[in-house]
Amino acid sequence: MPLRKLQDLEVAQKTVLTRVDFNVAWDEQGNITETYRIKAAWPTIDYLVGQGAKVVLLSHLSGKNGFGQGGPRSLETIAKKASEIFGREIKFCPQVKGAEAKKCVEEAGWGEIIMLENLRTESGEEKGDRGFAEQLAELGDVYVNDAFGTCHRAHASMVLLPQLLPSAAGLLIQKEIRWLEEILEKVADLTVVLGGAKISTKIKFINKFLNEAEAVIIGGALANNLLKFKGLAVGASLVEKGLGLGDLEGLDLANPKLHLPVDAVAARDIQGNGRVVKAVGNIDGDEIILDIGPETREIFSKIIANAKGLVWNGPMGFFENDDFFAGTKTVAEAIVANKGFSVAGGGETVLCLDRLGLLGKFNYVSTGGGAMMDFLSGDSLPGLQALGYGGLAG
Ligand code: 3PG
Repeated sequence: MPLRKLQDLEVAQKTVLTRVDFNVAWDEQGNITETYRIKAAWPTIDYLVGQGAKVVLLSHLSGKNGFGQGGPRSLETIAKKASEIFGREIKFCPQVKGAEAKKCVEEAGWGEIIMLENLRTESGEEKGDRGFAEQLAELGDVYVNDAFGTCHRAHASMVLLPQLLPSAAGLLIQKEIRWLEEILEKVADLTVVLGGAKISTKIKFINKFLNEAEAVIIGGALANNLLKFKGLAVGASLVEKGLGLGDLEGLDLANPKLHLPVDAVAARDIQGNGRVVKAVGNIDGDEIILDIGPETREIFSKIIANAKGLVWNGPMGFFENDDFFAGTKTVAEAIVANKGFSVAGGGETVLCLDRLGLLGKFNYVSTGGGAMMDFLSGDSLPGLQALGYGGLAG
């Protein structure tokens, strides 16, 4: 069954439950630091408004995307920010379901946009609870999903709403699929650059691209885990807890296509006290690797310069501190300087590109982090499946 598309759905004079992913990043002061995902949802919202639909925005906010991961839980600030960005009023409803939510929806007119409160304030969302999905479904006539970044989650608003209402994929999801399918078709020409922290969620991806792509470059805290498994001292660096060799699922650390850092910028704390540049393996017990070193930057840049196409996910170091941003900056600039095609994705990656003013320089920037990685790993994403998508052939 092929993907059901928004353009084939009757939306005029309908109340359209529109799932978006406005799970944006925050700073320590509670400011939104990056709005790429909000902007990316506009074409679908604009289309719906233009068709005379009543647009009811549904989103989650995990509060984990940001400094200290302590972002707010209410979507009210995001509704305000989206209003500013779109230049359209978005009425905020402080409820997700029930009488008050119904009243908010009823009071809105055709062509108007409202946003309900954070879906994850209701436990039924993450549990994939049918009763909760039914309560949501009561609020609308049809359902449109444009939350590509959440498609790897089998949550109620992602997989059950499309069973309860006529449903389709929005314009962003359609675009994401087109680009990511194209990437998969070119896999043999790809060089993949990976950073970030959690390796356990990326093993399948790494194995696939080590087998099928041209090269896999790994930096950031992700590399710490692999350096440690190679028997190199990583001191007090961030490594994933409880990870055993078995978790690497046959990852061939000696594969010549795999490129790991040879040196690092380390310090005794994230403020940068005791900052040193050292070869990997020479890191002292109380030191933390916070960036790739100058030699690694040079090696990675050369590989990137020779690549036919590039996919990038995850910073090369502790980018939140400017003193440890050089590795990420070098990699981003090298990718942009390469004349082949370039795709990036993931919240932190987008944040870094935005900071460097390079967002517009990539051929495509996905709104998905985990969703993009799972899609490129060849996994079937529950949110896409629920919209009829059957994979590359589907
Ligand atoms: C993301 O930021 O990856 C998506 O919004 C999904 O969020 P989650 O990881 O909290 O489910």
